[in-house]
Amino acid sequence: MKKNLVRVVLAVIVAILIAWIGFATQLPRQRPAADIQVELTAENIERGRYLAVNVLQCVDCHSERDWNLYGGPPVEPIGAGRACMTRETIAAGVNAGQERFPGRLCIRNITPDEETGLGSWTDGEIIRAVREGVNKDGKGLFPIMPYFIYKNVADDDIQAVVAWLRSMQPVRSVRPERQIDFPMNMLVQLWPEPFDSPAHAPDRADPVAYGKYLATVARCGFCHTPKDPQSMKGFEGREFAGGMPFFLNGRTMYTMNLTPHESGLGSWSKEQFIGLFRSRVARVAVEPTANTLMNWNAFGAMSDEDLGALYDFFMTLPPVPYQQEPT
Ligand code: HEC
Ligand code: HEC
Repeated sequence: MKKNLVRVVLAVIVAILIAWIGFATQLPRQRPAADIQVELTAENIERGRYLAVNVLQCVDCHSERDWNLYGGPPVEPIGAGRACMTRETIAAGVNAGQERFPGRLCIRNITPDEETGLGSWTDGEIIRAVREGVNKDGKGLFPIMPYFIYKNVADDDIQAVVAWLRSMQPVRSVRPERQIDFPMNMLVQLWPEPFDSPAHAPDRADPVAYGKYLATVARCGFCHTPKDPQSMKGFEGREFAGGMPFFLNGRTMYTMNLTPHESGLGSWSKEQFIGLFRSRVARVAVEPTANTLMNWNAFGAMSDEDLGALYDFFMTLPPVPYQQEPT
């Protein structure tokens, strides 16, 4: 009897050891960073700025935000990172008073400062981090960094973003190393995935396909598709149908239905759609409690062509009635 117990305990210990070694040596799944150097042409840098600021919104996360202005525009120095999320209650901004982080996580400095930013990273390492979710040391990034979305960003586009990052003024801004509690520290190693390049964006001559690309990488789908709070998977058949709750400074708001149902974009013309974005881009003063998590400030300056392509794509979706998810 006793011997059996000892055997079982030993077997369990060995199993845990094997699993742990497996975790530590096999995960996260990754491949070496590509050996490339992006072209620092004026055209590439300008395209990268537009993508990073207005479409992919890197700077909205990687900067402090001013919630006294509509849309919460990023604050200078742009890209220098943001105050850390900690075990204590978050005082202001996104998820204020709601969320405690299991440890400490800082949205990092992505300016080209040698010591505290991306100055010492290769172009390939930055691209791998953004699309494949592992840092310079090959550790999995916490998936608040939306690499699982950016894996859809085309090669040309991600290279343009890196060109712009390289062109930024380096800012010295120390963001403490992350500390993630068990078991979350193990779980974050599970999700990164190597990427199958080359990846091309759809042809702009096909606005519906190009609009779909934009709706994915600009995360319209991520925020405007209702999700199962347990699995965080979007409900099938309700892609882009809105009704997801978001919290900011004590206010709950719901995303809009972007399908062509009458409760969504059904009666909207393309001009109205583009006009709404233009009407909300201004940085007007607002009570922080009345502010919004919809990134009007960034998206409002997207080109007519891109907003038009988004509209064309949304109009091809099956119409789905709006329904609010519980908070
Ligand atoms: C929704 C918020 C969010 C957005 C949008 C975002 N990031 Fe991040 N990013 C993070 C967080 C959080 C981390 C830290 C993850 C960690 O340390 O585990 C991070 C980490 C990184 C890192 C790794 C830095 C390091 O020192 O380890 C790079 C590089 C990076 N982001 C670049 C980008 C770029 C480029 C974009 C736009 C294409 C972008 N990020 C958009 C939240 C975001
Ligand atoms: C970070 C989450 C998030 C992302 C990303 C996002 N939205 Fe939103 N959106 C919201 C929230 C929250 C609201 C409701 C609050 C508001 O209207 O300001 C909203 C509202 C809207 C509205 C309704 C405006 C009105 O008042 O009638 C439109 C249209 C819209 N979003 C389109 C888009 C498009 C197009 C994209 C992608 C380019 C997008 N959203 C990306 C969160 C998001």
